[in-house]
Amino acid sequence: MDNQSVHFTLNGKEISVSVEPFEMLADTLRDRLNLTGTKKGCGQGECGACTVIMDGAAVNSCMVPSAKAEGSCVVTIEGLGENGKIHPIQQAFVDAGAVQCGFCTPGMILSTKALLDEKPNPTKEEIRTALAGNICRCTGYVKIEEAVELAAAAIRLNNESKAAEGRHGG
Ligand code: FES
Ligand code: FES
Repeated sequence: MDNQSVHFTLNGKEISVSVEPFEMLADTLRDRLNLTGTKKGCGQGECGACTVIMDGAAVNSCMVPSAKAEGSCVVTIEGLGENGKIHPIQQAFVDAGAVQCGFCTPGMILSTKALLDEKPNPTKEEIRTALAGNICRCTGYVKIEEAVELAAAAIRLNNESKAAEGRHGG
């Protein structure tokens, strides 16, 4: 079968990329688009290292055929920072000491983003459920949970101060 051209929004930009018939999104991102922040661990949907956000949901990109990305909106770790600054979730992972080798970190952060976009104030249980598919061999999960709580608090604070600025016409 021939390659196929797939069009989707990647980190806010419309792109078009030619993919092989059974190519998976993790490979397209890493090998064709050079976005190597998406990690590939097991390649079988078991470790979460390849997590990206697709249409608002965290997915294992090693299990998503690239052709399925057609018309979707995909966010990878490269798309999180803004104005040259890392995202508050990334900052929280650093501040909580939740990063050791870093291999699991992009996937953890994107699972966290999908969670906090939906639930800005998650319970510990909700955090555990959201990160259940992301495996870390280094840190244990305590610091990662702390990082998610720290990130949630930072984002809520940001949003509150933006809302206050809006109210005061600033
Ligand atoms: S590399 Fe995709 S889940 Fe492990
Ligand atoms: S920091 Fe090494 S696997 Fe999580």
